[in-house]
Amino acid sequence: MASVHKPTAAAADPESKDFSRSRELRPKAHELIPGGAHTYAKGDDQFPEQAPGFIVRGKGCHVWDVDGNEFIEYGMGLRAVTLGHGYEPVVEAAYRQMQLGANFSRPAKIEVDLADSMLDIIDGADMVKFAKNGSDVTTAAVKLARAYTGRDLIVICGDQPFFSTDDWFIGTTEMNAGVPRAISEMTLKFRYNDLDSLRELFDRFPAQIACVLFEAEAIACPAPGFLQQVKELCEQRGAILIFDEMITGFRWHLGGAQKFHGVTPHLSTFGKAMGNGFAIAALMGKREIMRLGGLDHDQPRVFLLSTTHGAETHALAASLEVIKIYREQAVVEYLWRQGERLRELVNRSITENRLEGHFELLGRSCNLVYATRDQERNPSQAFRTLFMQELIRRGVIAPSFVISLAHCDLDIQHTAEAVYEAHIVYRKALDEGVQNYLAGRPVKPVNRKYNTSISS
Ligand SMILES: Cc1ncc(COP(=O)(O)O)c(C=O)c1O
Repeated sequence: MASVHKPTAAAADPESKDFSRSRELRPKAHELIPGGAHTYAKGDDQFPEQAPGFIVRGKGCHVWDVDGNEFIEYGMGLRAVTLGHGYEPVVEAAYRQMQLGANFSRPAKIEVDLADSMLDIIDGADMVKFAKNGSDVTTAAVKLARAYTGRDLIVICGDQPFFSTDDWFIGTTEMNAGVPRAISEMTLKFRYNDLDSLRELFDRFPAQIACVLFEAEAIACPAPGFLQQVKELCEQRGAILIFDEMITGFRWHLGGAQKFHGVTPHLSTFGKAMGNGFAIAALMGKREIMRLGGLDHDQPRVFLLSTTHGAETHALAASLEVIKIYREQAVVEYLWRQGERLRELVNRSITENRLEGHFELLGRSCNLVYATRDQERNPSQAFRTLFMQELIRRGVIAPSFVISLAHCDLDIQHTAEAVYEAHIVYRKALDEGVQNYLAGRPVKPVNRKYNTSISS
């Protein structure tokens, strides 16, 4: 199924990494690009100092940096690449379409083809609108909910990290410079698995809440009945329920977390894995709401996702091919199975290195992340950095352990060996002090107010 790329000897040798070209390029990247990257989560402050700075190419789950170092990587384009880098059937589908033209003055037929395919896999949706970024479709869902209900306030889940680059969400984070307070104040927060915290908002702001937007599941599993109860509460109070399926879509189930949990929202948003790295996102939902963005009603019109590049044809072709492959190769089942295999091996290493309470794998097998804690069992960025540093020395880039179809048994085995060795260093750092093992400053949270704030 997945192509096998045996890690080279160099990738496995902790002493062999040369990052001199990355180091040379870094000042220029920061001079030309604010933050030195186009996504904060890829930035230098998110990785150890001894890390590949720039990637040149990728194949499957392997990448090569500007210095020629090879790594197995996890996360893969912030979870956008679930089939593997340079996955040929998808690349070829996009290329074939590119040769027929990328963008015309009337809609392309392929817009209808992909709409059909997406509506076929997302049970409760009647209509779909495409865009290029997840942020744009979650923002569109919020706008549509406000227009449909005639209400201004929105509710998001305060325990989940990210929904959009737009003001209605970023204004609620630490990194809110440039967002008018009036906008941030219209976004309220409830707590996951705490129905009372949501009910309290509906009571405090009667008939003012347009929508409740969250991920049906992120790291914590929903308590029995929780998602259904949220839906019922929304319907009782006249609000729209929106599931953000950017991460869960094409991962928990081909039909999304909504299918996995058997709760259909009024609107939902998809992106990331939908195009295996090509830029494509989708807003999906009930006709009664979605049609406000259409031409066949006499209510005030909603300006719904009308962008120049929204239906760029080769991204649509890529997505059509992705859906075909998911159906043919049982991709979701593979992600769960291979994630479970990795979980077992990492958990064994935690036990053998006496790291219980200090290192923990969290989340579903198809979406594994990890927590790092210090001697007092407090969350620690320094230990996170140390762990990533030791993995990188052994040829693994792992800000998470989110796998893809390309992570074959050999990759998992190599990763497990690297984790075991990194855990040995982790244990020593717990006993002797992390500063004795960390080569450089710790990583920092993405959404922080000032560049200088460093948590330990
Ligand atoms: C849950 C969730 N929603 C929305 C987004 C925004 O997607 P994009 O980066 O494509 O704008 C992200 C991105 O990380 C996300 O994780």
